[in-house]
Amino acid sequence: MPTLFLHPLQIGNVRLDNNLALAPLAGTSNLAFRPICRRFGAGLTVSELVSARGVCYDPEFRRNWRYLVFDPTERPIAIQLFGSEPKDFANAIRRILEHPLLGQCSMIDLNMGCPVNKIVKAGEGAALMRTPDRAARIIEASVKAADGFNKPVTVKLRKGWDDSHVNAVSFARLAESAGAAALTVHGRTRSQFYGGRADWSVIGEVKAAVSVPVYGNGDIDSPSAARQMIREAGVDGLMLGRAARGNPWIFSWLTNALTVEEPKSDIVPELTPDDKIPVILEHLDALIDLRGELTAIREMRKQLIFYLSGTPHGAEIKRRAMTANSRSEILAVLEDWRIKCKKHCEHS
Ligand SMILES: Cc1cc2nc3c(=O)[nH]c(=O)nc-3n(C[C@H](O)[C@H](O)[C@H](O)COP(=O)(O)O)c2cc1C
Repeated sequence: MPTLFLHPLQIGNVRLDNNLALAPLAGTSNLAFRPICRRFGAGLTVSELVSARGVCYDPEFRRNWRYLVFDPTERPIAIQLFGSEPKDFANAIRRILEHPLLGQCSMIDLNMGCPVNKIVKAGEGAALMRTPDRAARIIEASVKAADGFNKPVTVKLRKGWDDSHVNAVSFARLAESAGAAALTVHGRTRSQFYGGRADWSVIGEVKAAVSVPVYGNGDIDSPSAARQMIREAGVDGLMLGRAARGNPWIFSWLTNALTVEEPKSDIVPELTPDDKIPVILEHLDALIDLRGELTAIREMRKQLIFYLSGTPHGAEIKRRAMTANSRSEILAVLEDWRIKCKKHCEHS
């Protein structure tokens, strides 16, 4: 059993500094947020899901640029594609990897776990777990396309479709045979969406069944959960989704906790507005660069819910932030939060 849980990871020809990853998160894992997670310790980040067919019909990357764009300094980064047609994946991958900037991504990840109705009705995302032959053809076509550019292809899958159709192990074996260089397993079925508990035992079964690196995913929300996932499932890497929203610091907590043999407790440092505000503003300013102020403010309101959750005066500040319409209004609300928290500390 490993005692030191943080270690470098090799995916195909890509060497990752460590085995912690930020999960693909539509609406969150963009150019504004990923570099922050990377700085706090994520060894790999993944873009939001992007339609393979959409890329094929977007020759100048006009519609998809904001999902695909990254800064070369935030590498290693995976670009995630979804779709249902092998040729769409092959074309999209070629187009992405031929591009001077996008071609510098570290790897391509294939989405075989998205549960959203619109996606699965089109035979995409988690629906591919019900059509393993098609999934294998997609992986083969993607690997062939990416191979010409020396880029590994990885696959993100779920436990199965529903409790009566749990096929993560056979699906993972098939993905490995089709050429996937690493796998991420989210321990929920499609029917669960994001509810209930993730099943870590099935993740362990996948790990035991394949020889490529396996990231465990689902409900890793603390250093102790991270250690438990590695102990129970024996996974090579940990991928965090929801717990990182509004909390990129979790990567530094995990980095510390996973490098000591037996941490005494799971106590994580309490973050004050002085810690959080500079990071929130960095996130906001990067969003403004990416999307323009108006749209960035709307998107940032959702992120502020996560940043402010569970903090003193958080509920009131969140309410006020929801009506802020500019960067300066958000700044004023946050400064007020700082003052209120200082007073709160003085009186307690
Ligand atoms: C708002 C939201 C957006 C997501 N977007 C994606 C996505 O674009 N691609 C993907 O493969 N998974 C996506 N997921 C799933 C996460 O990557 C992850 O598998 C899931 O949240 C379970 O991990 P967690 O318990 O650490 O959050 C999304 C999840 C949420 C909640």
